Amino acid sequence: MLIDLNGKTAVVTGAGRGIGKEIARTLAREGVIVAMLDNHSSLVQEAAGELTGEGLQALPYECDVRDFVRIEEVVADVALKQGGIDILVNNAGVAGGGPVETLKEDMWDLNMDVNVKGTFLMCKAVAPIMKRRRSGRIINAASFAAIVPSYGSAAYAASKSAVHQFTRVLAGELGPWNITVNCYAPGMIPTDMNHFAEQPPERQERLLDTLTLRHWGEKDDVAHLICFLASDFAGYITGTMIDVSGGKLATQIPRVAYEAAVKAGAHEF
Ligand SMILES: NC(=O)c1ccc[n+]([C@@H]2O[C@H](COP(=O)([O-])OP(=O)(O)OC[C@H]3O[C@@H](n4cnc5c(N)ncnc54)[C@H](O)[C@@H]3O)[C@@H](O)[C@H]2O)c1
Repeated sequence: MLIDLNGKTAVVTGAGRGIGKEIARTLAREGVIVAMLDNHSSLVQEAAGELTGEGLQALPYECDVRDFVRIEEVVADVALKQGGIDILVNNAGVAGGGPVETLKEDMWDLNMDVNVKGTFLMCKAVAPIMKRRRSGRIINAASFAAIVPSYGSAAYAASKSAVHQFTRVLAGELGPWNITVNCYAPGMIPTDMNHFAEQPPERQERLLDTLTLRHWGEKDDVAHLICFLASDFAGYITGTMIDVSGGKLATQIPRVAYEAAVKAGAHEF
């Protein structure tokens, strides 16, 4: 069996840049027709243009995942043009924060509205379309922050933990229709959201020291997982969160293994 997604239709939110754009590109390279949604019109137009320039099938839609009226319009348009929706990737997300005592209410609300409510509203619109065909794949962006959160990440970590539990509940509700619902937890992938790779070297070293595979993640590390979860190979996986963080804090101090490896004659890291 091959990962065969040829001719399927996917909706990917937050596809204007970053991981979402890479997910859209990777699915499209597997033969998927991808509806790319983003609240930044110019970003998503440009991103879809890049993909179509590569000969891939991509349709841009300006869509804020907090706006249910617009979501319904977009989802109806995709379903009408493509005859249904096979895959929904709720990638759109924001990460704003600060310590609880100084965290602004509007920042709390933004994290909850985009990350949690946005995921809920997209699922609410797409689930009935998938149910008609008695099949579908829903894949939600959680975060390693839902496993071990960072200092100052209360709003973000709480929102991503909510995505995890939402995923499990929806998996239970949609199981009878053969629709799987999973989420994934990336660790540290340099993007415009976090600028990890542009931080001072000492700060980068401290962050890398938390990783079992001691290098930044790539956007396509996530995109490849999405392809697998969207495929027939993953037909018996639902209601779970998959860690795609390079083994972040898999052991208490991952760096110890690298020090031991250097002593054993491995090249420096
Ligand atoms: N990069 C990482 O290391 C990392 C780690 C863990 C989780 N994640 C999650 O992965 C997802 C993508 O992250 P990224 O690093 O590519 O971020 P990014 O900021 O580069 O991209 C996010 C995209 O979502 C879009 N977006 C934001 N709000 C939206 C809204 N209301 N409606 C529609 N689109 C909206 C943005 O315009 C942007 O195109 C997010 O959910 C993020 O929380 C990323």
